[in-house]
Amino acid sequence: MVRKLRVAVFISGSGTNLQSLIDSCEREDFPARIVLVVSSSRDAYGLERAAKAGISGEVIRQKDFPSEEDFSSALLTRLRSERVQLICLAGYLKLIPARVVAAYRDRILNIHPALLPKYGGKGMYGMSVHRAVIESGDEYSGPTVHVVDEIYDNGRIVLQARVPVEPGETPESLQKKVLAKEHETYPAALRMVAEEILKGER
Ligand code: GRF
Repeated sequence: MVRKLRVAVFISGSGTNLQSLIDSCEREDFPARIVLVVSSSRDAYGLERAAKAGISGEVIRQKDFPSEEDFSSALLTRLRSERVQLICLAGYLKLIPARVVAAYRDRILNIHPALLPKYGGKGMYGMSVHRAVIESGDEYSGPTVHVVDEIYDNGRIVLQARVPVEPGETPESLQKKVLAKEHETYPAALRMVAEEILKGER
């Protein structure tokens, strides 16, 4: 039987990337298992996706804690209770506290809907990313999976995939194309990283 890395997925919304990771992890030969979903919002549809897949989902919001320190402690306690080895951010709209980044150094991945290092950084999310790509006249866009550090969209790039920006493309049509590509790219990146980590543990 293939060994499986224990993964937590952090979400804030719809969770279509979470779904693609759930579907991949259900394959017997996939080297990861999702053991926890953390949401920054009570209304995230992704929580239903987790429930349907029999995965524990939990809402952990910074605003419910008196300080960042307490929020970090709550996150770390929950992550450790599930023996989480890797965190995948999938549409998580909050900044991960520095203490959590330090505790999971090189063990947090994020997916961004553009070809970093372009179109990243604070404020670059959702439709503003796709609008900026179209305005720039770039011929290609596509998702980037990268390692998370203390700076938004800054860490080492793990995997990218390209989609063409076609004549007449709108931010909405580009978002759709990039999102479809994300659903292939995130599981592929997770497989690579999980295999690497498990190899190192042998
Ligand atoms: C995706 O476009 C991802 O790149 C970005 O947030 C969006 C999340 O979508 N970080 P979903 O919740 O996975 O559907």
